[in-house]
Amino acid sequence: MNIATEPKNFFTGTWPPASAEGFRVPYRVFTDPACYVAEQEKIFRGETWSFVGLDAEIPNTGDFKTTFIGDTPVLVVRDTSGKVSVFKNRCTHRGALLMREQRGNTKTFNCVYHQWSFDLAGKLLSIPMRRGVHGQGGMPAEFDMARHGLDTLRVSILNGVIFASFSATVEPLADYLGEEIVGAIQRIFNRPIKILGDTRQYIHGNWKLYSDNVRDPYHASLLHLFHNTFGLYRATQTGATHMDASKRHSVLWAKAAPTSASEDKEVYKDVRSYNTEFRLQDPSVLAGRREFDDGITLVINAIFPNLVIQQIANTLAVRQIVTDGPGAFELVWTQFGYQDDDEEMQTIRLKQANLIGPAGLISMEDGEAVEIVQAGIIRDGEKTSIIGMGGGRAENADHLTTEGAIIGFWENYCRYLEISRHAADTDK
Ligand code: FES
Ligand SMILES: [Fe+2]
Repeated sequence: MNIATEPKNFFTGTWPPASAEGFRVPYRVFTDPACYVAEQEKIFRGETWSFVGLDAEIPNTGDFKTTFIGDTPVLVVRDTSGKVSVFKNRCTHRGALLMREQRGNTKTFNCVYHQWSFDLAGKLLSIPMRRGVHGQGGMPAEFDMARHGLDTLRVSILNGVIFASFSATVEPLADYLGEEIVGAIQRIFNRPIKILGDTRQYIHGNWKLYSDNVRDPYHASLLHLFHNTFGLYRATQTGATHMDASKRHSVLWAKAAPTSASEDKEVYKDVRSYNTEFRLQDPSVLAGRREFDDGITLVINAIFPNLVIQQIANTLAVRQIVTDGPGAFELVWTQFGYQDDDEEMQTIRLKQANLIGPAGLISMEDGEAVEIVQAGIIRDGEKTSIIGMGGGRAENADHLTTEGAIIGFWENYCRYLEISRHAADTDK
């Protein structure tokens, strides 16, 4: 019997070629542990900036939060000088998680295992029994406290949005994001924010299925019944799907331009979920306020590799992707408003919070979409998806019927993981 001893490695060859029909993504990338390990090293711990939190989450000296970049635990803290630092959340003694709380305020970080203690700047302060007990034991005289501080990451903050990087060579944050994405961040973070709360959602699917979901304006008015039925978002609206020059990031926006009922009917005639007869018994969840002068009512800004910033009606939120192996990830939503919101605006935001998050009326289907893809492809790693809406190329579109930004994500994925692609596909 001929038993293959070597697992077939898809990426010893090249990425499946694109064709006139569209771009292809091999399903193996969603299940293969080797891909997952490579992503941690080359993407999350590589030449990228990852979101780790908001300034407003840690306003005071000693405020800290624990989070992850990919699956590496990190600690975000404001020190005595007001500076934000990010460390690996790993004790330099024997590697234990240093802080286990999600957030808090402290003067020092104390490891629970053997009580090594570090200051807010990551410096090793004290070691119990360092000189031994009754003249016996203790650390070697050569042990140099100064050499055993916490591992520090680079930090860059844009309008209160905190990013960190393991890389010493990644370009400055503004260059990494590009002008249009910087503008999208500045538009939403235009004045001091007020955190309203977090929700956390554990999704049984690969993190990249979510990355492509948030670069996909095509699904939004089809999968999300609430969107098209109650007119929050329809493909007939004025909108656009743009990427930065590197095509890592994207920003989708739509204006609640009045669309004509007859046009909507024509576009949605084959769509099961479109039914204008439905009425909400309590429509107050949709009662909002216009708050941006540009008239844009929906923005989904996907920032490579782990952040989404959203404005949907009057809900504002960041969504952080935390990977947990090839088959799962956690999505952490932090909703916010502005410090100068009046009482009515705060009430609107809290009411509309029902639209988003794990059980949100317009976002609960996204977690489910990720899981049904993961379930569908589980044994078909050699098969591929077909991504062709809008022309099958990573191109900007001034409309919402495109999958172009998804292709931008995958082209960058190949670049980061050094997966070779067909020459014919790379000169576009
Ligand atoms: S592992 Fe932290 S003190 Fe020992
Ligand atoms: Fe969605």
